[in-house]
Amino acid sequence: MIKEKAKIAVFISGRGTNLKALILRSNKKTCNYKIAYVISNKRNAAGLKIAKKNQIITKVISQSFLKKIEQKKLAKILINKNIKFICLAGFMKILSPYFLNFFKNRIINIHPSLLPKYKGLNTHKRAIEAKEKFSGCTIHYVSKKLDSGKIIAKKKVKIFKKDTLKKLEKRVLKEENKLYPLVLEKLVRS
Ligand code: GAR
Repeated sequence: MIKEKAKIAVFISGRGTNLKALILRSNKKTCNYKIAYVISNKRNAAGLKIAKKNQIITKVISQSFLKKIEQKKLAKILINKNIKFICLAGFMKILSPYFLNFFKNRIINIHPSLLPKYKGLNTHKRAIEAKEKFSGCTIHYVSKKLDSGKIIAKKKVKIFKKDTLKKLEKRVLKEENKLYPLVLEKLVRS
């Protein structure tokens, strides 16, 4: 018997390369998950176009998402849709503990540094300036504290002496795009 694919919601704010990588993998017959919902806090996020092109339902959340009632509404929608995991993929808003509570241990995030180093923004710039030998990316559970939840997987990327911000970002992003689908499949399986 073929098992039904686990439904995933992806939260984005921008270009959506990680979303695209997750979708590409999900299109494979053997993949155990499918992206059922894409949510953006930015109306013009390029990732929304990727979602629509792949016939995935999208939703834009606005300032009103700050209200608990709106958070509850979205949580209810996702629960009714039987969403198994929420993947944050370049989602640049902090989710409230109230919202997190609806999906305990079921919200994960990808971050462009080797956590616990360089939480927050401008990770590559800070890693280069600190003359780190390595940077990379980390996938972790989302908790109340920013970029501090339990780590699920990391991928190291070497920083070269002549690296520019752009070059490093590109190399790390390439690894993010490989790592995220693999980790999600593993989580769904477990
Ligand atoms: C990625 O590098 C992701 O790790 C980062 O935003 C980028 C989104 O790219 N996320 C964060 O910094 C979250 N703290 P994408 O829109 O092409 O997936």
